[in-house]
Amino acid sequence: MNFSDPGFWRAGAIATTVVMLVMLALLTIDTYGAIRAGGRQVPAYDVINRKIAYGYEASRGHDMPSIGAEDLLFGKRFSEAEAHALARKAKLVIQSRACMLCHTFFGNGSYYAPDLTKSWLDPAWTEVWMPMTAAPSRAEAMVRFLMTPDQFPAGVRRMPNLGLSRGEAMAVVAYLKWMSAVDTNGFPSNFGSIRVEQ
Ligand code: HEC
Repeated sequence: MNFSDPGFWRAGAIATTVVMLVMLALLTIDTYGAIRAGGRQVPAYDVINRKIAYGYEASRGHDMPSIGAEDLLFGKRFSEAEAHALARKAKLVIQSRACMLCHTFFGNGSYYAPDLTKSWLDPAWTEVWMPMTAAPSRAEAMVRFLMTPDQFPAGVRRMPNLGLSRGEAMAVVAYLKWMSAVDTNGFPSNFGSIRVEQ
């Protein structure tokens, strides 16, 4: 081995870069396996057909979602493709109305209004907004709130009317239901244990 030979160092740099590129590719594939819909920590979109509960998991040391029996959204059973299309639509609604100027999703965004990651599980839907909107279900209360949030204030800060159509509001509700089933390692931790209706 000749340390004064530039060729030695060049070969070393190339070998190190190649090894690191392989590592990066492996980590990317592993991360994708965990975070894609249908991956290790993220349910497939058709989880919106199921009941989502949330409770303390002793082995993990924090709350986590659990996926239960069939619990249809808007009385319809969505295929994975239909549920995926709803999620795509919801993402466009959320981007076009810049919800993250006030809210956070998975902790990203602004801190003016509540984090929406687990909003589907918020007991306020059944306790406050269902009576307020005279809605027969949690999902319908969410749709009515999202279409005219300025008419249904529950807290001190009010959400403005962002002109969501019924179809857009329904897509957002489906997206929020799916999101609540994502295993976020207990995030947001400041929620405490959310009481989920039985
Ligand atoms: C200008 C700020 C602002 C924007 C933009 C905004 N919101 Fe809100 N949102 C609020 C406030 C404030 C509340 C709390 C309202 C209340 O308690 O009456 C709220 C409440 C909510 C809730 C209920 C959360 C819970 O569980 O308590 C949902 C769901 C929601 N917003 C969704 C959205 C979506 C989806 C968008 C984009 C289409 C959006 N918001 C855009 C301010 C905003």
